Amino acid sequence: MRNFEVQSPWTDILQPDDEGIARAAEILDAGGIVAFPTETVYGLGGDARNSTAVRRIYEAKGRPEHNPLIIHFADADSAMKYVDVNPLASELASEFWPGPLTLVLPILLDSGLSPAASAKYPTLGVRVPSDSVAMRLLGTFAGPVAAPSANRSGAVSPTEASHVLADLSGRINAVIDGGPCRHGIESTIVSTQGGRAKVLRHGAIPEESIIARSGQLRNSASADSVPVTPGQMASHYAPRSQLRLNAAKPNPSELWLAFGPGCDGAEYNLSDSGNLAEAAANLFALLRSIDEDAVRLGKGAVAVSPIPPNGLGVAINDRLSRAAHSE
Ligand code: TXA
Ligand code: MG
Repeated sequence: MRNFEVQSPWTDILQPDDEGIARAAEILDAGGIVAFPTETVYGLGGDARNSTAVRRIYEAKGRPEHNPLIIHFADADSAMKYVDVNPLASELASEFWPGPLTLVLPILLDSGLSPAASAKYPTLGVRVPSDSVAMRLLGTFAGPVAAPSANRSGAVSPTEASHVLADLSGRINAVIDGGPCRHGIESTIVSTQGGRAKVLRHGAIPEESIIARSGQLRNSASADSVPVTPGQMASHYAPRSQLRLNAAKPNPSELWLAFGPGCDGAEYNLSDSGNLAEAAANLFALLRSIDEDAVRLGKGAVAVSPIPPNGLGVAINDRLSRAAHSE
């Protein structure tokens, strides 16, 4: 087994072809870390059974060690070997996998995973992505891949390989450039404890779709064995400029991140036609762009149009309010 340096001076850019995927799987086998596209955002993958690889993920991101990682699998059968499944979880998996759903389930004692991957939590987040490059990589590697979003901890999630490189170049072994991510917002995380679903993080599958399959959700206030983890903390996705949300129009000192028609003069529009799926797909890339512009132009602040609070708008508003929270 070759030994990869964590702070390697370069990061290989791999193509999403057979050769690139074979090379990425080889790096994972050797305990290295590789960023790869998923249908939500780019993930930073490492062998979840290898504590050295898992430690490298935390180090590259600057992620607190108590924040558990989601484990990615090529198919549901492989995922379910690591967790204690219940009928509701099976139902949700058969409806939404492969796809942007993460299920949080009790971890099996003899899972063989590095304890660092689950940050020693009694539960594990498992996910089977649908992106074709992710599926080919997971199928070729044929093992559990721990993969948080491939950004520096607390920064905006990456939806293009260039975002990964902006944050992690020289800190990871490689990135597979599979182009922009289709959904552009992270997976919906669901706990099925007690036979009722509870959304722990709003994401690319709207809550309405989960409810349609699972029935009424568990009350958010009810006790859960899952403590609040750093990804659910108020400040996350932090741009350098201050965001002002639900803004009808920008002030003269602000740049404008608009949504929907009739926003003439806006620097960027999440979706000219007011389509929430398009807005979600554009969100992180446009937050990065407008933040760079604001810093370059000495503007310091960004006005963001109101986003409807339904469907994917819930996840978009969640990310925006974390991005607006400055500490
Ligand atoms: O779409 C996604 O989920 C992407 C792609 C790469 O798969 N991954 C992702 O991972 O967003 P990350 O680490 O950036 O966010 C995962 C979130 C964190 O807030 C973490 O605290 C939470 O999931 N998490 C992980 N395991 C958990 C568990 N057992 N219980 C509760 N929350 C968990
Ligand atoms: Mg993240």
